[in-house]
Amino acid sequence: MKAAPSVLITGGAGGIGKATAACFAKEGYRVSLLDLNEAVHEAAQMLSTRAGQVQGRVVDVADETQLIAAARWHLSETAGKCDVLVNCAGISPKGQGGPFALPEITTAQWERVHRVNVTAPFILCRELIPVMAERGFGRVINVSSRAARTYVPASGLDYHTSKTALLGLTRALAGAYGRHGVTVNSVAPGRIATAMAQATRQDFLDETLRMIPAGRFGEPQEIGELILFLASEKAAYINGACIDANGGIYMT
Ligand SMILES: NC(=O)c1ccc[n+]([C@@H]2O[C@H](COP(=O)([O-])OP(=O)(O)OC[C@H]3O[C@@H](n4cnc5c(N)ncnc54)[C@H](O)[C@@H]3O)[C@@H](O)[C@H]2O)c1
Repeated sequence: MKAAPSVLITGGAGGIGKATAACFAKEGYRVSLLDLNEAVHEAAQMLSTRAGQVQGRVVDVADETQLIAAARWHLSETAGKCDVLVNCAGISPKGQGGPFALPEITTAQWERVHRVNVTAPFILCRELIPVMAERGFGRVINVSSRAARTYVPASGLDYHTSKTALLGLTRALAGAYGRHGVTVNSVAPGRIATAMAQATRQDFLDETLRMIPAGRFGEPQEIGELILFLASEKAAYINGACIDANGGIYMT
């Protein structure tokens, strides 16, 4: 019998990460979830009951040792095979619901944002893409943001730069590994109804909503379904792309 495909998802206790896990679990994937929040165990248990094989692990993705151990744990649970990596964990520091101004951003905050939003995806790619390339198949989906595509007043400049760097990582890896059957893409969600949105001040949310042609915020599952598609065989010719999912608030 053919082994189930496997996926490693960071930020698996969060809104988009958990919804993405549900999409993959329903399709029969073996899912490993990483998150700083202990709720990752609850998420894994709930999804296992409803859909299939989901396991969770508490990991600070900003800690390289923990992250590498988690990548190896995933491989040990899947007989050394990783089909899909979804880099979804992310932080967007806010003070009173809005972005910190330039003089308020400490170097420690800047570095933490970049460690979580860019360095962790780099480390996981370094651990897992060679394993995918050896088998001639792999999919990496990096969760970037509309803030990597244009200026978003509700987001800090540390968030803007880190999510833009993630697009550069995506393109460089897509170019380097396309010939090995590995595609690397990004998704750039607009405002999605999750805890991250709840941490944003109401006036920013009202202004954003007014500007979205779709007239609503996105649902986490809508991003999960997009990620699932990018992971599929059907998406084999999409490589190095950034797919906007924002209800039309930003169009190219
Ligand atoms: N919600 C939105 O409007 C929106 C828009 C654009 C992009 N995004 C991106 O989508 C991704 C998911 O965000 P979300 O909206 O689901 O928010 P969320 O806050 O619900 O989920 C983020 C998850 O990342 C986890 N996380 C944070 N730091 C971590 C660390 N150091 N180690 C491990 N896990 C850590 C959190 O515990 C949380 O579960 C993020 O990368 C975010 O930047 C969200």
